[in-house]
Amino acid sequence: MKAFKPNKPRYTYYTVLPVITGLLIGGIWASVTFAEAIIGDPVLGANDPILGSKHDFTGLNQRAGVTAMAGVAFSDYGYSCVYCHVPPEETGANPADFGGITDWNRFEPATESYKLYRSQSLDSTTGKPNPISMLCLSCHDGTMAVDMVVFKPATFDTTTDKAMHMRINPSDDIESCGKCHNGQIAHDISVKMIGTDLSNDHPISMRYAGLDEGRGVRDIDFRPPDHAAGFDNGVKLYNGNVECATCHNVHNPTNELLLRAEAETLCFTCHLK
Ligand code: HEC
Ligand code: HEC
Ligand code: HEC
Ligand code: HEC
Ligand code: HEC
Repeated sequence: MKAFKPNKPRYTYYTVLPVITGLLIGGIWASVTFAEAIIGDPVLGANDPILGSKHDFTGLNQRAGVTAMAGVAFSDYGYSCVYCHVPPEETGANPADFGGITDWNRFEPATESYKLYRSQSLDSTTGKPNPISMLCLSCHDGTMAVDMVVFKPATFDTTTDKAMHMRINPSDDIESCGKCHNGQIAHDISVKMIGTDLSNDHPISMRYAGLDEGRGVRDIDFRPPDHAAGFDNGVKLYNGNVECATCHNVHNPTNELLLRAEAETLCFTCHLK
């Protein structure tokens, strides 16, 4: 289901607004600077706002102006979507059958190491993040290389696979982007690494407390959602759960840090106090 479907314009309606900004930021970049990034995008072509954003690995090298970066850091699959999504030729395959995250083109990190947020009021915490958050953690926990995908696209020439595959981690070793991203050679990558101890981060993969679970009661400190999928400002719930993608939309770089609502209003979308 999370494999994107060629020629299916379902995604278009909720990206109409971002596309205007996306055209300016991502589209122009994509079409002018690194045209090969758009070849494989069957959905929105050069209009996909993700192109030219931080998650566009096909453009990263050109944007950074460091041709050595892809060479030593990660493989450029020439297809920006496959770092997260199953490539179209594998539609129907479940990455979980290959040690991947259900429905996403990423391997599953060693989950027993996750420390989730716990508190007395949080009685519904699960021991393991849900797949849509595992997707993010598979890069942002700093344990696995950013190009570690389950299925490489059919268009990728495996003989061009790079020798080094680095991870988002400030460590000074040849497996980590921190080799260069240490604040001296290039920007410090520490803040981008969430790690595996999530107990100090906003809780994820738990039921939204503002839902009335049919018990006729809900937590009065939380606003009820505007509709089943979340809130009118775009803050999104996944089967009633809060996930990384509740607050961040990697497909919409309009707000700082890919936030779904401005940082000033984001928290009060849910928290009443
Ligand atoms: C960094 C990871 C990442 C990359 C790279 C990425 N996506 Fe996504 N994509 C997501 C996430 C997360 C969602 C779910 C967003 C949501 O729930 O609002 C999504 C949702 C979608 C959807 C809607 C799927 C559905 O089930 O409704 C489509 C279509 C899509 N992406 C296409 C693309 C295309 C085309 C590209 C490449 C140009 C791409 N994505 C690159 C993470 C990514
Ligand atoms: C394939 C690896 C990968 C995946 C999967 C991934 N990210 Fe990222 N993300 C990155 C990289 C690389 C950066 C840029 C790091 C840097 O700037 O040094 C980044 C940056 C970010 C940023 C900062 C953006 C900014 O403007 O500085 C946020 C927020 C973010 N990611 C959230 C997410 C969320 C939420 C998900 C899951 C839906 C996700 N990421 C999935 C690799 C990934
Ligand atoms: C050989 C050194 C080197 C390595 C290894 C390296 N980078 Fe870079 N990177 C740079 C330099 C230099 C820049 C440009 C200066 C800056 O942005 O800090 C840069 C820029 C970036 C940018 C900003 C570009 C943009 O347009 O947003 C991101 C994001 C990034 N690198 C991510 C990564 C990730 C993720 C890794 C590991 C997979 C990595 N880099 C490995 C040297 C390197
Ligand atoms: C309740 C909303 C919320 C949730 C859930 C959430 N984030 Fe964030 N995230 C934020 C906000 C707000 C910021 C900016 C302020 C800060 O750094 O704390 C941020 C910052 C970030 C950054 C960028 C740090 C920087 O300064 O460049 C990354 C990367 C990131 N989040 C990834 C994730 C991942 C991965 C998850 C899931 C494990 C997640 N976020 C869950 C709200 C959220
Ligand atoms: C999508 C709705 C949502 C958004 C947006 C959101 N939160 Fe939360 N937050 C929750 C839920 C649900 C809990 C868990 C409440 C419970 O069951 O105890 C929580 C818990 C917390 C906690 C821990 C409270 C405790 O019990 O110890 C803090 C701190 C927090 N949020 C701060 C923030 C901040 C700061 C922001 C804005 C960056 C934010 N939240 C945005 C839903 C949200």
